[in-house]
Amino acid sequence: MSATPASLSEGPLPARERSIVLVGLMGSGKSTIGRRLASALGLPFHDADVEIETAAGCSVSEFFEKYGEPAFRAGERRVIARLLDGPRHVLATGGGAFMDAETRALIRAKAVSVWLRADLDVLMARVSRRNTRPLLAKGNPRETMERLMRERYPLYAEADITIESIDGPHDQVVRQVLGALESFIAKDAP
Ligand code: S3P
Repeated sequence: MSATPASLSEGPLPARERSIVLVGLMGSGKSTIGRRLASALGLPFHDADVEIETAAGCSVSEFFEKYGEPAFRAGERRVIARLLDGPRHVLATGGGAFMDAETRALIRAKAVSVWLRADLDVLMARVSRRNTRPLLAKGNPRETMERLMRERYPLYAEADITIESIDGPHDQVVRQVLGALESFIAKDAP
């Protein structure tokens, strides 16, 4: 007997069958932790930024330059909707994705969301290693990051699970996510 596709089944999927979506600011570790989490759970891993880059044939920075941020946000919304319609996986979103009300509602309906929360110093140390973020390319990156924290943290806080993305071994954060997921799934069980 074949399984009923998620989009055709009645009501929300139980938590144990849902994809896991990582949200949080640039430098919070969504891709690094996401890849390890997927491997620990034996699930495929997807990165929304990489999906957009592959589809557009250019980097996120080039995309921002060529088409502007609103076009990027529209692409991000479409990519996440498409992925969440597919089989269970771990998804690292770009830092702004969860700010979009439609995307937030979709993630709430179809996935278990995990906010990787990090302090300003941790975020800055991580993003300063690579110069790939268009939002930090102009002005004072630290001030931009502080503003984004003020604007976004109240919304990230709506995620199902919050984990502190400490400046320590990645495996420790992965273990914490796994533990929190287990409790969340147990609570959701009928
Ligand atoms: C963005 C974060 C980036 C990328 C784009 C915009 C944001 O992803 O989607 O540069 O608005 O915070 P990461 O969070 O993976 O760096």
